[in-house]
Amino acid sequence: MTTPKTFHVKSFGCQMNVYDGERMGELLAAGGLAVADAADADLVVLNTCHIREKATEKVYSDIGRLRKGGREPMIAVAGCVAQAEGPEIARRAGVDIVVGPQAYHNLPTLVAKAAAGESALDTDMPAASKFGALPARRRVGASAFLTVQEGCDKFCTYCVVPYTRGAEISRPWSAVVDEAKALVDAGAKEITLLGQNVNAWEGVDEAGRTQGLDGLIRALDRLPGLARIRYTTSHPNDMTQGLIDAHREVESLMPFLHLPVQAGSDRVLKAMNRSHSRDSYLRILDRVRVSRPDIALSGDFIVGFPGESDAEFEETLALVDAVAYAQAYSFKYSPRPGTPAATMEGAVLPEVMDERLQRLQAALNRDQAAFNAGTIGRRCDVLLERPGKLPGQLIGKSPWLQSVHLVSDAAIGDLTSVDIVAAGPNSMTGAAVIRAAA
Ligand code: 5AD
Ligand code: SF4
Repeated sequence: MTTPKTFHVKSFGCQMNVYDGERMGELLAAGGLAVADAADADLVVLNTCHIREKATEKVYSDIGRLRKGGREPMIAVAGCVAQAEGPEIARRAGVDIVVGPQAYHNLPTLVAKAAAGESALDTDMPAASKFGALPARRRVGASAFLTVQEGCDKFCTYCVVPYTRGAEISRPWSAVVDEAKALVDAGAKEITLLGQNVNAWEGVDEAGRTQGLDGLIRALDRLPGLARIRYTTSHPNDMTQGLIDAHREVESLMPFLHLPVQAGSDRVLKAMNRSHSRDSYLRILDRVRVSRPDIALSGDFIVGFPGESDAEFEETLALVDAVAYAQAYSFKYSPRPGTPAATMEGAVLPEVMDERLQRLQAALNRDQAAFNAGTIGRRCDVLLERPGKLPGQLIGKSPWLQSVHLVSDAAIGDLTSVDIVAAGPNSMTGAAVIRAAA
């Protein structure tokens, strides 16, 4: 196989994969490779997700598509499927490189090995972090991701993350602050701090004090040029009062919180090993709303966990009614090999799962529409991220993470004042506020 000159990275799944995909791209570009479309690239990196079923089949069908018409690009399988099923994937025809989420700083070496016809598999979880071996951030959009925490020690019984991403680790204070500065220098106005349990982040600041995520957010708030801070995903048990207070006190911290609950029944939560109850979750949200009354709440839900009864599912619907989420994600339970729930009894019938998911999504859509309608008439800043389809149209994000479409002569990357005038199912329409000349 010849040494590739062009590459394409395709990321699936969560925002942490998007971040990893960007960093792999930067690493390959630093090695002299040029970006290309998937259909022409000499090297295609499939940055995979393993959270739900059919992940592996999806990778194989993608590889089949890439090899259509006799093309034989070098193919690297990265991400959580690589971590979970590395050796099996490496044996598949067409796969040249397998690299796990903690080992991708070795991608250039693996590419060289594959080009020399050697086997190229690295799914190590080394003690030293990959981040130090990656090139500095150079060019990013107005809104950038920054992974500050990886892995998970919570071991929810349905979830593969503790196995594919490893134990909870926090990147050091100075590494995060330095990367945030580099992102701002590269054009970022907004940074979203990422972690599987981002609110479990912990570090030691320049003065030797132990800090939680709230301390980090307060430090980033002081960075000149950084207008907005967000963070995701959080676990209820790590929702400290300091972080809740930061939502009132730190102006650049956006009024949005993604706090998954998964289910509304205490029995199901216990079987999921969530280590919080319905009530303790709702009490956290009460405190968050006291701190920041306009906060947009988001969550994740799983329907049809083994043994979930009709009455238990109704408790999820009742919780949704009580919270009124601004938006949320909902999934059918999918058994993952190697997780405790995969061998639990009481599988829920597929048609029952379908019906539950439909009812839940109808309730979530109703609440999302109500939240969006409730922002009509508000004046807020929108961070412009990309052009829209119509001439002069731009698309950006409101503080509550809604997509806002508007016609404006402002530039991408600007934070511009907007009156929200209408709500669609997935986006808002804004009118640029014309400032009177001073
Ligand atoms: N089946 C269905 N949904 C799952 N999630 C995680 N594991 C599973 C699974 N086995 C969902 C959870 C989590 C989100 C990222 O994916 O809701 O919060
Ligand atoms: Fe998975 Fe639970 Fe950890 Fe979230 S908290 S990554 S759902 S084990």
